[in-house]
Amino acid sequence: MDAKVHELLNQQINKEFYSAYLYLDFSNYFEQASLDGFANWYKVQAQEERDHAMLFYQYLQNENQIVTLEAIAKPDKVFTSHMDVLKAGLEHEQYVTSLINDIYGAAYDVRDFRTMQFLDWFVKEQGEEETNATDMISKMELFGSDPKSLYMLNQELAARVYTAPSLVL
Ligand code: FEO
Repeated sequence: MDAKVHELLNQQINKEFYSAYLYLDFSNYFEQASLDGFANWYKVQAQEERDHAMLFYQYLQNENQIVTLEAIAKPDKVFTSHMDVLKAGLEHEQYVTSLINDIYGAAYDVRDFRTMQFLDWFVKEQGEEETNATDMISKMELFGSDPKSLYMLNQELAARVYTAPSLVL
């Protein structure tokens, strides 16, 4: 495997675990705000991010590449409103999309078609992640200021359950 592609794929393991950590922090924020549905939603999101990390880990191992695990950064944002959290979520997903695109670009440059095919799932997934994050912001804009509507939105988000990723390596 090309050294740059390898390095970026290895870094992505860390970035995805950081995403899991970040969303656990979001979940913790909402738990403390007594919005258990929002807390549940982000806890499930954290599980998905852990799965993403494991897919990169497994892909490198399947390709007989060395995996190097680095320290996971501390989520250190201080939130002053529910909307702050949701906006940080969208911003983070846009950043992750840019990382996936960078890896794709590096793989494309060296005609690493296998890595490009592996990344195709993530390209689609990032589209969904950004849509979900945008939807959360729209719903909060619409319903966040009315306690009864916020209660119902919280109930809706409480129903989210974890499902394993559709990509299996
Ligand atoms: Fe692993 Fe939220 O992208």
